[in-house]
Amino acid sequence: MSGARTLTISEQSRDPIEALAAIGKLTDPSLVVLKDFHPFLESPQVVRAMRELAQDLKSTYTTVILLSPSPVIPIELEKEISVLDVPLPGFRDLVQLLKEIVAVVRQGNKARVELSKDEAEQLIKAAQGLTLSEAENAFAKAIANDGVLNKDDIRLVLDEKRQVVRKSGLLEFVNLDEHLGNVGGLEELKSWLTGRNGAFSEPARKFGLPAPKGLLLLGVQGCGKSLTAKAIASAWALPLLRLDLGRIFSSLIGSSEENLRRAIRVAENVSPTVLWIDEIEKGLAGSSGSAVTDSGVSARVFGSLLTWLQEKTAPVFVVATANRIEALPPELLRKGRFDEIFFIDLPSAAERREIFRIHIEKRHRDPAKFDLDALSTTAEGYSGSEIEQAIIAGMYLAFAEGAELTQAHVMQALQETCPLSTTMGEDIARLRDWSKNRTRPASTAQRLAVVR
Ligand SMILES: Nc1ncnc2c1ncn2[C@@H]1O[C@H](COP(=O)(O)OP(=O)(O)OP(=O)(O)O)[C@@H](O)[C@H]1O
Ligand SMILES: [Mg+2]
Repeated sequence: MSGARTLTISEQSRDPIEALAAIGKLTDPSLVVLKDFHPFLESPQVVRAMRELAQDLKSTYTTVILLSPSPVIPIELEKEISVLDVPLPGFRDLVQLLKEIVAVVRQGNKARVELSKDEAEQLIKAAQGLTLSEAENAFAKAIANDGVLNKDDIRLVLDEKRQVVRKSGLLEFVNLDEHLGNVGGLEELKSWLTGRNGAFSEPARKFGLPAPKGLLLLGVQGCGKSLTAKAIASAWALPLLRLDLGRIFSSLIGSSEENLRRAIRVAENVSPTVLWIDEIEKGLAGSSGSAVTDSGVSARVFGSLLTWLQEKTAPVFVVATANRIEALPPELLRKGRFDEIFFIDLPSAAERREIFRIHIEKRHRDPAKFDLDALSTTAEGYSGSEIEQAIIAGMYLAFAEGAELTQAHVMQALQETCPLSTTMGEDIARLRDWSKNRTRPASTAQRLAVVR
């Protein structure tokens, strides 16, 4: 292309309709870039003028490019406009950016750069998911902070990314303070996971292994679904992003479809990562038959989510959790969306024993000083969460007495609480029944009639 000129119509006209008319009068083949034009597309007159312009330009070599942060296109114009998604900067773009910044820093002798190749790679990975200018800001801040760019700045850049991701209001980085050792029982699920250790590594890729897609964890309340989601990310040393489906639908943040696209885009850019969709059924409530209430928006969003689950190629491991089956659309359970659907039941006697041990230890007490079998027997029908609560309640009892925590305190706390399974027995029975042929049990334990 020769003879490119910059012709700034906006200097002549601040009126969008006049500007469009001016474009229509261009005689040379031109590329016209309209920046921040999207607010004008809300006016029917502007839309009309755009349609006419599109008609007029068909017989010319002039093309109009609209730059916009969100692809909101009036339906009248859908056929005239092709949408190009500009992806977030990739690893190589960020390497380039970092190199440029380092060059500037070195030249000005303003700061030092002390990064090994490995550390630089980690720093760049930390910035993945940011836009170029956000990454530039993050690197600049990291340097300005103490006059040196080193491995301590990886954390700073990660924090910066946390902020940016949080600002989007849809995704949130979750701290990895749980590991698989903190999850009692669920042996089947754990062995599935350990069998896939390293599945997101470079060697696995080279070997030709496809990245695992994800899991749907279905089960009784308080039995460790959310806990397991966190433990998976930490076991595989991947960042954990939580997607708030409810907020995707919140009209305060923008169009739901666009919100989902944005969230997916960020997750793919941060990948490899674990994307945690907690209580998926709540976000999807009304996705079927919702046409009346929200003109089919939730159904469309749900459709895009399903398509993405099925077709995604980026290494984003999705962990979805749910505890109400009635609200789960059957399409979600179809093959190809998840690698496996695990059912997490109330813990068995052996599992309860382990959960007691884990939580007693977590509170810096020696499990050997407790009769774990007796506790486990008394806690029949209790969920992991209720077991944890009983230990905490026991600690309150002990503290009030000015005594150290003993078996008796925990026993008393157990006897004073009524587990949910006694009041929800029927619901749990239904859940089990439903899960029998549709899901895989997360534990190997043989269960007798656990619900009292
Ligand atoms: N199997 C378990 N091993 C150890 N701790 C457990 C287990 N199950 C539950 N807990 C304890 O109970 C807490 C609550 O469990 P979690 O949030 O994972 O339950 P959930 O299955 O997600 O429940 P909900 O359906 O209500 O979201 C956990 O943070 C953990 O401390
Ligand atoms: Mg949960």
